[in-house]
Amino acid sequence: MAHFIVTGAAGFIGSHSVDCLLEAGHSVAGLDNFRTGRRENLAAALTHPQFELIEADVAAPGAVAGIAGRRPVDAIIHLAALVSVPESIANPALNFSLNIEATQQVAEAARIHGVRRVIFASSAAVYGNATQLPLAETAEMRPISPYGAAKLASEAILLGHAAAYGFVARCQRYFNVFGPRQDPSSPYSGVISIFQQRYQAGQPVTIFGDGTQSRDFISVRDVARANLLAAQATTSGVANICTGRSTSLQAIVTELARHFPGVPAPRYGDARSGDILHSLGSPEAAWRALGFRAEVSLETGLAELLGR
Ligand code: UD1
Repeated sequence: MAHFIVTGAAGFIGSHSVDCLLEAGHSVAGLDNFRTGRRENLAAALTHPQFELIEADVAAPGAVAGIAGRRPVDAIIHLAALVSVPESIANPALNFSLNIEATQQVAEAARIHGVRRVIFASSAAVYGNATQLPLAETAEMRPISPYGAAKLASEAILLGHAAAYGFVARCQRYFNVFGPRQDPSSPYSGVISIFQQRYQAGQPVTIFGDGTQSRDFISVRDVARANLLAAQATTSGVANICTGRSTSLQAIVTELARHFPGVPAPRYGDARSGDILHSLGSPEAAWRALGFRAEVSLETGLAELLGR
């Protein structure tokens, strides 16, 4: 049994990662400040004897180090973040604190307490507007938001500290993650969570553009497993966490609508400004470095999301 710290434990990806680590027989100290995380997400974990929830702010100096000093830690899985690109544009100072200063605190905790590995929630947003698909990790990185910039800066902080102080840092560049517990409440929430909520309320969805835009949608269950695998990795590096399969928005609507017979037809609106048309990752580096391949098909992932 290994012992892990998960930051952002009550969030969407955080809570699934906690569940996955506990199921694999490990013990977990979960940190969250409940800014966007929700206690309900940890309903199962909170009944588990190997789980401890700590209300703490990861960006606060010494907070993570204090927890890492209590007992030997095999890995810190750092998922706490400001997760909204528009919020990072509206409040770049908060983005700096939650997405860069917090990472520095995690690197410090790992250095001081000899933590063997740090796993970091990076994003496809580090690439910006791709010129060539599928995106490989060697593609040029030109973030186009404070959020993407902070993810890239955090990767550099962790990889630099890992090399200097002898721990392993894994930067996981998540693509479009979907699944249960994703918060649909903002217009910029993941499209699948918004569509699910609307269909369940018997309302039509709105497609921005013509629906031919495509994404590399990956189930949060696969993402949680990728985090578990990274927590056992022996070399530092970056890897896309994606499926390598592209799905159009139109195809998502068709598949979801199958579960909601009689639901109103989609409406169409203007394409969202700044939207990219296509996004697709190459999954090869994650396979080579972590032995990770996505296993949950889109159909299965959507059915799980709908509780079917
Ligand atoms: C995603 C990330 C974002 C990241 C970006 C680039 C999520 C939730 N967001 O944005 O953090 O910066 O990749 O890597 O993973 N749409 C509709 N109707 C709706 C909502 C959305 O048609 O009601 C469309 C959008 O216009 C877009 C597509 O659905 O074309 C996907 O949108 P979204 O889920 O927000 O993800 P990305 O834009 O890919």
